[in-house]
Amino acid sequence: MTKTSMTLEWKLPQLKTPLPGPEAQRIVKLDARYISPSYTRSYPLVAKRGRGAIVEDLDGNRFLDFAAGIAVVATGHCHPEVVEAVQKQAAELIHMSGTDFYYENMVTLAEKLEALAPGKGEKRVFYGNSGAEAIEAAMKLARYATGRKNFIAFHGCFHGRTYGALSLTASKTRQRDRFGPLVPGVFHAPFSYPYRCPLGAPPEKCGEACLNYLENVILKTVTSPEEVAAIVVEPIQGEGGYVVPPPAFLQGLERLCRQHGMLLVADEVQSGMGRTGKWWASEHAGITPDILCLAKGIASGLPLGVCIARADLMNWPPGAHASTFGGNPVAVAAALATIRLLEGGLMENARRLGDYIFGKLADWPRRHRLVGEVRGRGLMIGLELVKDKQTRERAPKERDAVVEAAFQRGLLILGCGLNTIRLAPPLIIDQEQADCALGLLEDALTEVEKR
Ligand SMILES: Cc1ncc(COP(=O)(O)O)c(C=O)c1O
Repeated sequence: MTKTSMTLEWKLPQLKTPLPGPEAQRIVKLDARYISPSYTRSYPLVAKRGRGAIVEDLDGNRFLDFAAGIAVVATGHCHPEVVEAVQKQAAELIHMSGTDFYYENMVTLAEKLEALAPGKGEKRVFYGNSGAEAIEAAMKLARYATGRKNFIAFHGCFHGRTYGALSLTASKTRQRDRFGPLVPGVFHAPFSYPYRCPLGAPPEKCGEACLNYLENVILKTVTSPEEVAAIVVEPIQGEGGYVVPPPAFLQGLERLCRQHGMLLVADEVQSGMGRTGKWWASEHAGITPDILCLAKGIASGLPLGVCIARADLMNWPPGAHASTFGGNPVAVAAALATIRLLEGGLMENARRLGDYIFGKLADWPRRHRLVGEVRGRGLMIGLELVKDKQTRERAPKERDAVVEAAFQRGLLILGCGLNTIRLAPPLIIDQEQADCALGLLEDALTEVEKR
């Protein structure tokens, strides 16, 4: 196959069978027999191969991927430079354990992350294998470094499913039901969500209202700030619905932290690594977290979680915290290749294509009965669906129907929150792919609106 024909073939969706095709049906049936039913599958995609922004299923159907493995394959599927880095490292050394031995690349990546992370000054890096592990490390470190025991997290937030991370998570009750008791000392505050302010304030006052509530209710009635180790926040809520708080809300959290000696932990597991057109969503608000948590996009699909902290904070003794696999050489090699590609133009592409897509989506709330709000930054884009523009009554069933109808047209997207569609494509997409995705999404939306 010539390079051009391959590029063309792997650029746009192509469906060959009704969905799901026979092979996909076979696997879905076996999956139901053998695999934990706790996974949430929105539609029966059985992935076989991926190139760039295209995923091929077992029946040879090709889909345009605007989900990116839940915002993970930042550089697209199987980017040749990532594949080469992984193959080279796998042939050289797959594992020794960074807990007991040294790897050069652990240091190289940490040095790079120190330079990229917000804030000047020395930092240290702890490696795990997932977002949840990055959060666990941050929680343990925050307690260890401050000698305080409590945490503030936010309604709607998602930080993972291990016990510590789950204790912070307040996204859906299903994620917590019957798992308690959880880690004590976590208090949840309202998150500024201007489109539907939890405190009923108008959009432009929502940030201030939520900050006031935290400062004057939570920190005065349920935990004094002197007992709070850290405020943990997603600068843009991911699973909670791609909710973008006003910059002043995040700046207010930073101010409260500085005032009371609480640490500011930014969970950039979903919003980081260039997805918003800057390295970190925190940068859009100009805040400098004390601890930064990363995973998902960092290694283009290999498992890696990172907790970065000021060096004076990450000052715990040997044995205090560790991970057998964390910082695995193959995952770290993939991360270094990923960062090179993001620096080489993909982050800029995310900004440019994000602007292009937002431009195209700008009139959807006017043109589409179901679209209440379009929001996000870069290629982290949410469309909130509502039954009624006045009451803003949520439209969760319609949202699910649009996601399914998009799949039937060859477009992979995911929901987030109760009634929001998320667009989180790989950062390599071009304008033609953006136009194709928006066309398919609009068809799907129109079909559901007509039902
Ligand atoms: C913001 C955020 N934090 C943490 C996590 C947990 O990551 P993982 O599933 O890798 O444990 C997620 C996963 O969706 C996330 O979006």
